[in-house]
Order: sequence, then structure tokens, then C-alpha cells
Amino acid sequence: METDPPSGNKQDLSSEWLQLLVDSALDGIVTMDAYGRIIAFNPAAEKIFGYRRSEVIGKRVSEKLIPREWRAAHKKGLANFLATGEKKIIGRRIEVEAMRCGGSTFPAEIEVISISPSKEPVFIAYIRDISERKEWAEERLQYAENIKRTLLQTLLAVSKTVEIRDPYTAGHQRRVAHLAASMARAMELPDEQVEGIFLGALIHDIGKIAVPAEILSRPGKLQEEDINYLKIHCHKGYEILKPVDFPWPIAQIALQHHEHLDGSGYPQGLQGGEILPEARIVCVADVVDAMTSHRPYSPAISLQEALISLSAKAGSWYDTDAVEACMELFRGGYRIDAANLEELAWLISPK
Ligand SMILES: [Fe+2]
Repeated sequence: METDPPSGNKQDLSSEWLQLLVDSALDGIVTMDAYGRIIAFNPAAEKIFGYRRSEVIGKRVSEKLIPREWRAAHKKGLANFLATGEKKIIGRRIEVEAMRCGGSTFPAEIEVISISPSKEPVFIAYIRDISERKEWAEERLQYAENIKRTLLQTLLAVSKTVEIRDPYTAGHQRRVAHLAASMARAMELPDEQVEGIFLGALIHDIGKIAVPAEILSRPGKLQEEDINYLKIHCHKGYEILKPVDFPWPIAQIALQHHEHLDGSGYPQGLQGGEILPEARIVCVADVVDAMTSHRPYSPAISLQEALISLSAKAGSWYDTDAVEACMELFRGGYRIDAANLEELAWLISPK
């Protein structure tokens, strides 16, 4: 036959358990009365704040645990709650700056609840020191930033190798990258897409590495055979970039940047929506820079002439929105010869 365990004093047992719970908690638990005075302080709070319980009991939370710059806000919040019952912080988990014994501050996650054991409310704050978590997050962010910076520098280095073989296009890919990213930003595309357009444009002509140097630098009008040779750079670029698992369509940008909406482009003769939006934008930027730069096989024309020729083909060859964004930039004083990649540094900052 089952027997009941010895009952003892139930009231004492529950308060003993409660005390054990509070004392063994890993979170600091600080209780405050309606006047902002500390009335309970568990061992975890002693460890987090560096005070012994006896040093803080009866003292104001604002003086002991809250950094000077936050004290007024704390007092105002408490007074507001007592007057209106409005719970701005209560019942939510929030991040705050807390203050240790000695005055140093640290990031903390706190959750405050209010109970009313008597007429006046009592506030219980559960506090967690999140310094380590913040440092870890900061390190991860730093690491991601370094990786992105290294990626950008690597792509810039790759971009330059093409230009060493093709000195007439020195700076072309960087100018196209700047213009294309500026257009994409003006078109209010998401940051990730702008980033892909920027990096893709930076190496869109990488396939020219496979085109004989004498074709790239031969003066005069190119023969059809040479033009066909030049056209292989799209496929070659795609082959070089495809094995790289970029989070952006970098290889497709290299492949499609000479496609036209009406299918008259190369190498695949894609039409309209078959062409990636990223490639359509890089295409427009590429054409503007190519037309306004001197090449051995085609002398430069003025920006004015280039823009007229661009708008004449808007909708047939070129994406209308991309052309409009491009025209708008130049109307606003954009200078393609003054393109500064540093201005776009935000592109490689982790979000
Ligand atoms: Fe190209």
C-alpha cells in the first residue's frame, strides 16, 4: 500500500524550493521595489555585477546597476509605469547596457516582469551578461568582412590580368562595374543583386584572356574572322567562372553581357526575359564605356553621341529601365572617367 511522503510544513517547503531556484539560476535575478530600490539580489547577479548582496540591498538600481547616461530614462520609465501602467519594457526581452561594480559597462539581455504581492508592484529582472556573445558576433562580422574584402581584391587582381593583355581596355571593367552598380542602385534593386552586378561586371570580360593579343590590339576595323574570335570571350569567361560557387550569377553575367533583347546579340541569341536582369544592366554600362573609350578597332565617340545611340536601341537591344537609369545618372552629372570604387565600399560590407 502506498504511503504519502512526510508532509512537513508545505509553506516552508515551497519557499525553500523557490529560494533554491533563485540561488541556483545562471541568470542574475534582481528584484526592485516601486521606489527603484533593490530588495533581492541572487548569487548569479553578484557574479555578473561584482557586488555582494549586502552592498546593494536597499540601494537604488539606477545608482548601482545602470550606467549614468541611462539613469534618467530608467527613472522616467518607472514613473510612467507607476502612473499609467503602460508596459514599454516589462514582459519583453531587450538588450541594454548595464554597469558593474567599479563603473565599467557591459551588454546585457534583460527581461523585467512586474508582480503585485501587496498594493505596490515589485519588479523582477532576469539579467544575462552577453559580452561573450557580442564579441563572438563581432568577430564573425569582422571575419565575414575580411573574406568579402579579400574576394573584392582577388577579383580586382583577376580583372587587371585581362587588362595587362589588353591595355586599350585598361580600367574598362572597373568603370563598367562602377556604372552598372550605380545604375542598379538607382533602380532600387536589392543590395545583394547590386553586389552581384558590381562583382560580375568587374570580371565580365575575363574570357578575353583566351583571345589572341594581336586581335585585341590590332588597329583598324576588325575582319569578320577577328570579330568571331572576339566573341568567344563570353563563353570562355563562363567556362572560367562557372566552377566558382559564387552566391551571385557572376558566370552568367560574363556569358550574357552581349545579348540583346530582340535576340540579335551573342553568343546564344537570347531574347527578352531569357536574359538575366544583371546581364542587361552590365550590357548597358559596358556599351557606354566601350563607345566612349578609344579602342584600336573603334575610336571613341562623345558621351552625348553614345547616349543618343543607347536610347535609340532602348527596348530593342537594351533594357529600357537600365537605359533610363543610365541616362538619369549622366543627366545628374555622373562622370564615368571619375569612377571611384572606394565610393562603393559599402557593397562589400556584410549586412
Ligand atoms: Fe565583353
